[in-house]
Amino acid sequence: MKTNATSRRSIWVNKDKPEIINIIDQRYLPFELKICELRYPEEIIYAISEMQVRGAPLIGVTAAFGIYLAALKEKQSPDLQIRLQKYSLQLKSSRPTAINLAMAVDMVMERLEGKENPMEIIELTFSTAVNFMNQEVDACKRIGENGLPVIEKIYSEKKGEPVQIMTHCNAGWLATVEYGTATAPIYLAHDKGIPVHVWVDETRPRNQGSRLTAWELEQHDIPCTIIADNTGGHLMQKGMVDMLITGSDRTALNGDTANKTGTYLKALAASDNNIPFYVALPLSSIDTSLEEGVRSIPVEIRNENEIHYIEGLSPEGKICKIRTSPPGSKALNYAFDITPAGLISGLITEKGIINASRKDIISLFPEMD
Ligand code: MRU
Repeated sequence: MKTNATSRRSIWVNKDKPEIINIIDQRYLPFELKICELRYPEEIIYAISEMQVRGAPLIGVTAAFGIYLAALKEKQSPDLQIRLQKYSLQLKSSRPTAINLAMAVDMVMERLEGKENPMEIIELTFSTAVNFMNQEVDACKRIGENGLPVIEKIYSEKKGEPVQIMTHCNAGWLATVEYGTATAPIYLAHDKGIPVHVWVDETRPRNQGSRLTAWELEQHDIPCTIIADNTGGHLMQKGMVDMLITGSDRTALNGDTANKTGTYLKALAASDNNIPFYVALPLSSIDTSLEEGVRSIPVEIRNENEIHYIEGLSPEGKICKIRTSPPGSKALNYAFDITPAGLISGLITEKGIINASRKDIISLFPEMD
């Protein structure tokens, strides 16, 4: 996607040195576009847990490359398979909510079953990670194509006025590899000439909305306005929102969906105001081992300092943090919440739009029959 008119992905294999994985260090956006080189498997774990990369689909792709870097590092080791198993467990625990992480790691490790030859293992981990990355890009593109008719239909009733779309957190190309999930239909609509305007929740405490979503939409010339997280309900009551689209970090078989904390409150307000609330997600974000989500999806609790401090640009142009709460006060930082399926108008997937129901979700996985 575009950054200053340059086309980019959020992660890529270094063109000259395939043993290096490049990422955008998202902790510096929107103030600095910092590209990092990851060479060691430990750096992959750090990148995921410290949120240099974030967003469920991107976490999954990054993890897949982690096994590749681990295979490169351990290629001389006589117990290469055991070391990779150990590493994959550490990798899976680097962030708990996004199912894409475990799914990607298991997928790569399954491909390695019974393999002994280090060169074969390296090639296999590399090709599996690259193919998975490209599949995820393709899935996001299809999510865009499948979600576009929803925006077109609303536009046909708007007498030329822009379609007003609200989103929460960042489920854009930064959180995936390209296109995004929630943003994919928005990018497509805009590129087709449909006027859209996006209400961007700031998404405290990490501000992925104001720092990342606003940045990437602006790079693509999509009109957007940042609002405080608590303003959404008021805008909905005033008729200023036509639809909502969010992403998903994990969706259970019954359609319950974990997403950035605050999503549930948006869904409640949308339901109260009869506004469609869509969740856009690739199949890699569906946890087919969980029957329901509200009680079963593990919700990450992050460091309370993310609440006590806010990060931004100082008047001198330096990224800095300031404390906003009384010294010594306590904070509780649940990073996600779970929206019950009943509040979701539809799941926009690469295989089409379905109901957030067990029957429809199961139909996406013919192998489960
Ligand atoms: O904590 P993060 O930034 O990794 O959270 C992920 C998210 O950005 C969202 O919850 C997103 O809407 C789902 S991932 C496309």
